[in-house]
Amino acid sequence: MDSERIVASKVTGEEVQYEGSLRPQRLSQFIGQDRLKEKLEIYIRAALQRKEPLDHVLLHGPPGLGKTTLAFIIAREMGVNIKVTSGPAVERPGDLAALLTALAPGDILFIDEIHRLQRSVEEILYPALEDFALDIIIGKGPAARTLRLDISPFTLIGATTRAGAISSPLRDRFGIAERVEYYDHVALGEIIIRSAALLNVIVDFTGAEKLALAARGTPRIANRLLKRVRDYAQIKAGGAITPDVAGAALVVMDVDPIGLDRTDYLLMQTIVHKFAGGPVGLETLAAAINEESNTIEEIYEPYLMKIGFLKRTARGRVVTEKVYAHLKISSDNYRQQTL
Ligand SMILES: Nc1ncnc2c1ncn2[C@@H]1O[C@H](COP(=O)(O)OP(=O)(O)O)[C@@H](O)[C@H]1O
Ligand SMILES: [Mg+2]
Repeated sequence: MDSERIVASKVTGEEVQYEGSLRPQRLSQFIGQDRLKEKLEIYIRAALQRKEPLDHVLLHGPPGLGKTTLAFIIAREMGVNIKVTSGPAVERPGDLAALLTALAPGDILFIDEIHRLQRSVEEILYPALEDFALDIIIGKGPAARTLRLDISPFTLIGATTRAGAISSPLRDRFGIAERVEYYDHVALGEIIIRSAALLNVIVDFTGAEKLALAARGTPRIANRLLKRVRDYAQIKAGGAITPDVAGAALVVMDVDPIGLDRTDYLLMQTIVHKFAGGPVGLETLAAAINEESNTIEEIYEPYLMKIGFLKRTARGRVVTEKVYAHLKISSDNYRQQTL
């Protein structure tokens, strides 16, 4: 099995299908993110009572934490249609204008990876978000005129893994901007038990907990682990996911008990052995482990920082004492890279 894929940000074709079936449909089925849920519930009920579209929503945070799921849930709770696109998919201003003019009153436009919108496209959005209008420029040079075209009141939901990469004029136009957080292992355990029921897999509470601890705070990874451990349980054990079966399957997948995979190990060991614990710059580190700096920054580092293994300093990345302790205990059980 390819351990790289467990934490990968790319969603495979197979995954698109089962993610759809595992996706909670209502806010009440959405596990965890309690503060965010509470706020959304208030905003949604208030907008419904006033019979107005919900204010524009920006959701940011690491991949796999439920941003797309929440966009669909909001649409369902508001009782409106949702049109889905993504930053890189909208190539020209005209493409966005076409999407916006096709919206019915109250509809939601969901733009995933909104930080990747081109500037010229983004500018179309400003009057659309503020005044529900499009400013169309007709003609060229001194004869050019602007024509204002009204569009239906709508809600934009933007999702991004990189809040810092969004221009401030765009960010300022979202009335609701919320961060989705990593999940604790209790919430992840609940998600695994819910998904197991939907997939008809037998998992006991401690088995689910074991997987939850290895899921890097991320529901998408929890579901991925569950699917692969299910295969293992089916072929190598009686089909049920017990803690022993879960533990053995994780070893086969090269995922350690706290969810670190081979790339995490390579990254930690490289900083420890080649750069004396750091600081080391991102680009230097990326070259040393032969990984893209974006992937390191968006996928690997956030979790290592969250568990206190890595720090970003002005001079570069530094590993903490926890890494030395962790490498020591895991050396017997988990394959380490030879540098
Ligand atoms: N709070 C949650 N409860 C249950 N399942 C969740 C939750 N958040 C995410 N998931 C599951 O994780 C998968 C990834 O979520 P998604 O919304 O696509 O993440 P993002 O858009 O942030 O990358 C979804 O298929 C969904 O089934
Ligand atoms: Mg998404």
